[in-house]
Amino acid sequence: MGDLPGDIQRILITPEEIEKRVKELADQISNDYRGKRLYMVGILKGAFIFMADLTRALSIPHVVDFMALSSYGKTTQSGAVRILMDLREPIENQHVLIVEDIVDTGHTLAYLQQVLKGRSPASLRTCALVRKTRARADVTLDYLGFEIPDVWVVGYGLDFADRFRTLSYVAELKPEAYASSQK
Ligand code: IMP
Ligand code: MG
Repeated sequence: MGDLPGDIQRILITPEEIEKRVKELADQISNDYRGKRLYMVGILKGAFIFMADLTRALSIPHVVDFMALSSYGKTTQSGAVRILMDLREPIENQHVLIVEDIVDTGHTLAYLQQVLKGRSPASLRTCALVRKTRARADVTLDYLGFEIPDVWVVGYGLDFADRFRTLSYVAELKPEAYASSQK
């Protein structure tokens, strides 16, 4: 991969590791939902690349939909989340799988699970590419790509201030690149 962009500290997950793990997750999901139709809910913007690769590796019938969420106070731990863009269709009696790029504190996913559960899906499961070690213990994931340390990561859909999303790997951002701004 040669020279890394200046703000990148180190690569945590290579494109090859991502590709292998995404295929494993897709196989596992395809087995678990055999005979059912899956309603895949990708969380924008970060999950768009993971979602694209994961869904294309599925061998079962599925539909894709997206939601966009925003944390209220980015610097608070309140867990207050706002829906910026909702699903296109009701999910009542659907087998819903939430696809997230990253679980950091877990507040976003906890909120989302609560909201979607209230819409009476036939089942509701969660999938994330990466989870930080500091994540809330009560937020459960049915499918997880990788555990990562509590650092700011970018690439494969993940951004910092909308930059670095289309890097083919997941990398740690240099602390000085985000130290001056609030998350
Ligand atoms: P939460 O703390 O689990 O609620 O995560 C909130 C959101 O912050 C995630 O869905 C991501 O969009 C974003 N986020 C948290 N940590 C990172 C990171 O290391 N890189 C990029 N985005 C992140
Ligand atoms: Mg996100």
